[in-house]
Amino acid sequence: MSTIRGQEYDGLVAVVTGGSDGIGLAVGLELAARGARVASLDLAVDDLPEEITGFRCDVTDRASVQAAVAQVVDRLGGIDVLVNNAGVSAVGTVEELGDEDWHRVLDVNVVGMARSSAAALPHLRASRHPAIVNMCSIGALNGLPQRVAYNASKGAVLALTYAMATDYVGEGIRVNCVSPGTVHTGFVDRMLARFPDPEREKAALDARQATGRMVTPEEVADAVAYLASPRSGSTTGTALDVDGGITHLRPRPVQQTD
Ligand code: NAI
Repeated sequence: MSTIRGQEYDGLVAVVTGGSDGIGLAVGLELAARGARVASLDLAVDDLPEEITGFRCDVTDRASVQAAVAQVVDRLGGIDVLVNNAGVSAVGTVEELGDEDWHRVLDVNVVGMARSSAAALPHLRASRHPAIVNMCSIGALNGLPQRVAYNASKGAVLALTYAMATDYVGEGIRVNCVSPGTVHTGFVDRMLARFPDPEREKAALDARQATGRMVTPEEVADAVAYLASPRSGSTTGTALDVDGGITHLRPRPVQQTD
């Protein structure tokens, strides 16, 4: 049984990339509610809630990441948890997407995680409870339509998670990832707005989940908080699905009875 009681994140500092909106913001608020001091490393850091300190940062720029990490350590005293959450998408098939789309998606979603992790690791090594959580997606293992670059990037995130977990297990640094199904955030609203009938598309996304509704950012945040917690010391190199059952469940479609 774990000996860690009370506010499990008391005294810990958590850094969330892309922590100013959507899932990242929900993660930051959840970790703060559990006792952590939280930093958001994001392109946009205005209008953050008081629980979260913003540090302007572009995860595609190594110098920007290193500078933001140094500022976090200066202001908050160290780093115990890194949540690699910043991510972008591109809609299209291999024929429709150009090199620029591919470079942008892979640069933010994959290399961005490597840059942020490399910058944070010296500080994680100094922590008693170091943990990294990467934001993956069901797209890593499932074909989603017109998301080739995004799916390929998340497949890489899954592989990156296993590889990093292996590299750092000997130092006691745990690395896991969460694979959400479709989560209702600005990310999804921006995509829906491009369709002629956004309401119809939203209904289709809800229906795609076995649970009949999209995942909430708070449900993903709870999963991140579980994986990064000092109480999860034996959990490393795992992918936790928070996907409304879309990956493994095949319920019968609801029958009309009239
Ligand atoms: P969002 O678009 O609502 O928020 C993303 C945040 O990342 C924003 O605050 C944005 O400013 C920041 N960001 C983007 N590029 C950045 C960069 N270069 N440097 C620093 N910050 C940057 O997105 P959402 O939905 O919250 O997604 C967050 C993560 O969850 C992403 O990795 C996404 O792939 C993943 N995800 C999202 C799902 C969804 O359905 N919304 C499903 C599965 C995974």
